[in-house]
Amino acid sequence: MKKLKIGLIGCGGRAQSHMSSFVKMSEDVQVVAVADPIEQRRMNAAKMFGCEHIYRNHTELLDDEGGNLDALVICVEPTAHDEGMELRAAEMGIPFLVEKPMTLDLDLADRVAAAIEAKGLITSVGFQDRYQDLTDIIMAEMPKHKIGGLVYGAWVGGIPGVWWWQKKSDCGGQLVEQNIHLVDELRYLFGEPLSVYATASTGIVKPGVNSWKEYDTDDHSTAVIRFENNITATLVSGCYITGCRPRCGLYIVLEDIIFDYRLRNNLIIETPKETRDIRRMADQTYTLDEAFIKAVQTGDKSLIRSDYSDALKSLKLAFAANKSMETGEVIYFDR
Ligand SMILES: NC(=O)c1ccc[n+]([C@@H]2O[C@H](COP(=O)([O-])OP(=O)(O)OC[C@H]3O[C@@H](n4cnc5c(N)ncnc54)[C@H](O)[C@@H]3O)[C@@H](O)[C@H]2O)c1
Repeated sequence: MKKLKIGLIGCGGRAQSHMSSFVKMSEDVQVVAVADPIEQRRMNAAKMFGCEHIYRNHTELLDDEGGNLDALVICVEPTAHDEGMELRAAEMGIPFLVEKPMTLDLDLADRVAAAIEAKGLITSVGFQDRYQDLTDIIMAEMPKHKIGGLVYGAWVGGIPGVWWWQKKSDCGGQLVEQNIHLVDELRYLFGEPLSVYATASTGIVKPGVNSWKEYDTDDHSTAVIRFENNITATLVSGCYITGCRPRCGLYIVLEDIIFDYRLRNNLIIETPKETRDIRRMADQTYTLDEAFIKAVQTGDKSLIRSDYSDALKSLKLAFAANKSMETGEVIYFDR
C-alpha cells in the first residue's frame, strides 16, 4: 500500500491524538509538513516526525506543499476555518480529515461541501464516537428490538482550558463545540431529526471570577430532539461544574432493552433477562485515523463513517438548537 504524505494544519491539543496515531502507522503515513502560528507547537510536531517542512500557517503550507501532499489533517480552533483552508484544499483536490466543528459559518460549510462534491474528494470529520467498538455493539443489537422510546443524553463538566472556549462567538457554545459528539451519535443511531427545541442558561459561572472576563458561553443547555419511530432525545450540556464528575453519555430506553452508553468508557446493556457491562477496548481516534488513511490509500469512501457532508447535518442540527435557544421556537427540519 502507498505510504501517504500528510500535512498537519494546527498542532495544538487535538492534533496530538492524531499525531499519536500516525506514529503508530509509520508504515502507511509520513507527516511531511506541519503548520501552526505557535512556534513551539509546530517545532514539537516537526520533531516528532523528523519533518523539515515547517510553516507558520495553512496558507504557507498549501502554497509550498499543496501539490506534494496525499492528504491533510486539520485541527484548528472553530473560527480559524474562516480563513478558507478546507475550500482551498478541496479546490486543490487534497483529501482531508478535519476536526469538528468544521466551522461556525454554515454558508462557508455549504461551499466547502459543494467543492468536495465537485471533486469527488475523500473527507473525514472527527466524530470519534461513531468509530467506537461500543457504538458497533449498539448498532448490531438495536435492530433486534422495537425502536421507539426515550434517550437521555448528557455532556456535563467544567470549562475547557483552550482560550477560544470562553466566548460563544469563538466556540459556538457547548452543544456546537463539545456535545456535538452526542448530537452526531444520535443521528448515527436514529437517523435524521424531525425537530429540535432548546433552552440555555447563564449566571452560574461568573465572568472574571471563575472564568475569563470575556466568558459569555451558556452555563448549561437542554435540547429536545425528535426522531422518527417515536424517539425523543433530551440532550443536556453543562460547563459549570468544578470538582465533581457527573455521568456523561446516552441512556437509551427502548421497550425491552436499555443501552447505557457511558461516554467512551463502557456500555451497560440491560434486558429483562440479563445485564452486561462491556468495556471499551479500542482507541476510537486511532480507528478513525486508520479508516481515513485506508480510504485515501484505496479510494474506498465506504470506510469513512462521517464525511464532510454528513457531518454538516450534525453541525446544522446543533446550530438549529442554538437558534431555538435564542428564539424560544421549535425548529422543524425539511424531510
Ligand atoms: N474529535 C474530538 O474528540 C476533539 C477533541 C478535542 C478537540 N477537538 C476539536 O479540534 C479543534 C482544535 O481543538 P484543539 O483543542 O486542538 O485547539 P488548540 O487551540 O489546542 O489548537 C488549535 C491550533 O490551531 C492552530 N491554528 C490556528 N489557525 C491556524 C492556521 N491558519 N494554520 C495553522 N494552524 C493554525 C493554533 O495556533 C492552535 O495551535 C477544535 O475544533 C475542537 O473542537 C476535537
